[in-house]
Amino acid sequence: MYWLAQKLLFNLDAEVSHDLTINFLKRSQNTPLQGLYQQSVANKPCQFVGLDLPNPLGLAAGLDKNGECIDAFAAMGFGFIEVGTVTPKPQAGNDKPRLFRLKDAQAIINRMGFNNKGVDYLVEQVKQAQYKGVLGINIGKNKVTPEEQALDDYLICMRKVYEHASYITINISSPNTPGLRNLQYGEALEALLAGIKTEQQVLRDKHGKQVPVLVKIAPDLTNEEILGIADSLKKSQVEGVIATNTTITREGVEGLRWAKEAGGLSGSPLTQKSQSVTEQLAEALAGEIPIMGVGGIDSADAAKNRLAAGAQVLQVYSSFIYQGPQLIKDIVEGI
Ligand SMILES: Cc1cc2nc3c(=O)[nH]c(=O)nc-3n(C[C@H](O)[C@H](O)[C@H](O)COP(=O)(O)O)c2cc1C
Repeated sequence: MYWLAQKLLFNLDAEVSHDLTINFLKRSQNTPLQGLYQQSVANKPCQFVGLDLPNPLGLAAGLDKNGECIDAFAAMGFGFIEVGTVTPKPQAGNDKPRLFRLKDAQAIINRMGFNNKGVDYLVEQVKQAQYKGVLGINIGKNKVTPEEQALDDYLICMRKVYEHASYITINISSPNTPGLRNLQYGEALEALLAGIKTEQQVLRDKHGKQVPVLVKIAPDLTNEEILGIADSLKKSQVEGVIATNTTITREGVEGLRWAKEAGGLSGSPLTQKSQSVTEQLAEALAGEIPIMGVGGIDSADAAKNRLAAGAQVLQVYSSFIYQGPQLIKDIVEGI
């Protein structure tokens, strides 16, 4: 079934396919049509940042940016779901075209630029979902917000999503929002995390629940930078880290159609880079902060390697586009 749908969709522009699919999932979830993609997946219960998961494989951020298809993705058997990135105000994102399939490399390049309907819309979608499992909400800043005021945007989103999230991801690693990745370093990172942790305490007292905060980092980091980030994460006592977002390098796709398009590269060419960042991060964190692994996880073997590198749970995006819901079964059963 998925192969047929993919054959048709892959003849269309990548973003048109994406929009059609999201629309179909949104309309079909919780109806008899859900049977087209509903599946049972092996039970592999585990814990991450104090949350109980039925299996350690989640949907990565960016596929369901507005939280419109939560029940559909849950029906496919993901152990947890991350929605967003969402920003305080709705924004259109970058000009189209901005999403490209590099099929021969099982890769994607995107420069979407946080196109989303805004945090209020996302919260409404989350409230309407029937899903009772673990839901991460990934937050970012609007493009027009100056880098120095980024904290304000994260706080606005945090206050609105806190009640509804199982965990909150602070996305400081998208390559498509100018200046965003500068927040990964030194004083900028420490000031941002200090502000976020202070707010987390206020919200914990207000809502009577502790929602873990995770920081999502880029794969394009030197060992020295990874050590610096690990140090800041430990100091600020965030609950977890997600490694990694997309890469701005083009290793593994040289010469392919679309390879020169600007944006973040994801999928199989990212496997080694993400694996290596995870290994270095795990060593630097020495078990103090748990890692969620994402980036080029395209098989049960790749998943096993990422767990061996020190990740405790995993996410997929690009390989799910290429392999469909069967990938969830394959990975969960194979690890
Ligand atoms: C089209 C597209 C949009 C994405 N949007 C986001 C996003 O909004 N926020 C985010 O944190 N990551 C986003 N990502 C990154 C993914 O969550 C993931 O970290 C990255 O793609 C690496 O995993 P993969 O190789 O399995 O795709 C996006 C990825 C793609 C391909």
